[in-house]
Amino acid sequence: MLYITKRVHFSASHRLFNPTFNDQKNDEIYDKCNNFYGHGHNYILEVTVRGIPNPQTGYVIDLKKLKRILNDTIVDKVDHKHLNFDVDFLKGVITSVENLAVIFWKILKEEIKEAELYKIKLYETENSYVEYFGEPVEVNRF
Ligand code: NI
Repeated sequence: MLYITKRVHFSASHRLFNPTFNDQKNDEIYDKCNNFYGHGHNYILEVTVRGIPNPQTGYVIDLKKLKRILNDTIVDKVDHKHLNFDVDFLKGVITSVENLAVIFWKILKEEIKEAELYKIKLYETENSYVEYFGEPVEVNRF
């Protein structure tokens, strides 16, 4: 089994808050991330698939095709957007890096047919990232 990864980047703004909490509680939990007009990140998304190389091509997956899927289904929809307002598939979601990873997984699982989606690694900052392997997780929508 081989594991192959494509990395893409996007920049987006978001605001972390839970509409069922009052201002004070949102402030306590999310602190600066609760800033009313949002704040930005340069996200890095790494998507790993696994499989056996096709004997005819030598590829587990055509990385050009994987890149196209990542761009069409995620990057083009979130890049230079406000994640709380501009993105249909994030409507009502607390836009934490954890929730983004779960939702990206569901989208990519539908789209990647050539190989098995294995891992999503999503960096919110250079030093903070989440890894997700597709275990069942529910994301609340408010
Ligand atoms: Ni943030």
